Amino acid sequence: MTARTYRGTPRNLALLAQALQAGELVAVPTETVYGLAADALDARACRKIFTAKGRPANDPLIVHIHALRQLELVARPNSAALKLAKKFWPGPLTLVLPKTEAISAVVSAGLPSVAVRMPAHPLFRRLLKLTGVPLAAPSANRFGYVSPTTAAHVYEGLGKKIRYILDGGPAQIGLESTIVDLRDPLHPQLLRPGAITRTALSRALGRPVGTPASTPARVDTAQLAPGLLARHYSPRTPVTLHKQLSVRAAAISSADEAWLFISRPARLRGENIFWLDAKGELGGVAHTLFATLRRLDRSGYRRIHVELARGDGLAAAINDRLRRAAAR
Ligand code: TXA
Ligand code: MG
Repeated sequence: MTARTYRGTPRNLALLAQALQAGELVAVPTETVYGLAADALDARACRKIFTAKGRPANDPLIVHIHALRQLELVARPNSAALKLAKKFWPGPLTLVLPKTEAISAVVSAGLPSVAVRMPAHPLFRRLLKLTGVPLAAPSANRFGYVSPTTAAHVYEGLGKKIRYILDGGPAQIGLESTIVDLRDPLHPQLLRPGAITRTALSRALGRPVGTPASTPARVDTAQLAPGLLARHYSPRTPVTLHKQLSVRAAAISSADEAWLFISRPARLRGENIFWLDAKGELGGVAHTLFATLRRLDRSGYRRIHVELARGDGLAAAINDRLRRAAAR
């Protein structure tokens, strides 16, 4: 099997919608990262996602909906969920809620809950509408590797495992969605930080958003707080984190170690010196982070030194991904 990449013409979208309706997999652009989609109501189709990704069956999938009226088909929303949906959808926010019968144990990995989000990317939205069913889609990478933010990244990892890739350009945000557990609306929990910050969620809900107590380090039982696997999003090259990168250390380092700064370091040049955003603007950092990690991973460095972002909000999401990339 070899993947073909399609531009989002009306004809291609119709073809890809048909493929999804026939139970096939299609890699899709979203505003966060690329996803690997299947009909969420078709357990057989969803099983193929796990095979293509090499994903363990106990790691549940996110279900993507086109309109709010599809929410009740897949989940049992409460008023807190509707509040967040109205404020942040379509957008990079995933809600964990009790699931309905329509969602099979394949999708939920046997959990009684389901993760749902309404994406904002216009091409994915058009495809969702044409297909007419909710689409289950995890990030379109081999399990454990860095999430894809371009169609080319998807091809690198899954080009031999799937047939269809919809190219919607580079993902605008570049980090996976924020996941909030709303099974108990009085005690919302942040399962994965993302572009929608804990502060924004707390403000919208009018109550603090907590953090689950334990962080599962291994994939064994169906996870209560998945997305929290310690090792995830990892390049093959070892990553060392630094609170602040020292320009001096970078300047005298050997050429086979890469130094990745948040912003462009003053007066420091070298083939092994990189930065994520010239001005250190966090939106830009998030946007280029995964593509940069992939590029450095391919470049044969012995080690990648990375500087952590400062501040909270988006910095929390960026640093979360960096910590996972560095976990061995
Ligand atoms: O931005 C995103 O969320 C992207 C795009 C494609 O939408 N998707 C994504 O999917 O990042 P994935 O599978 O790579 O990460 C989804 C996370 C997983 O860690 C999974 O364990 C967690 O969501 N999850 C799914 N269902 C859950 C549930 N019922 N309860 C708790 N966590 C759940
Ligand atoms: Mg993923």
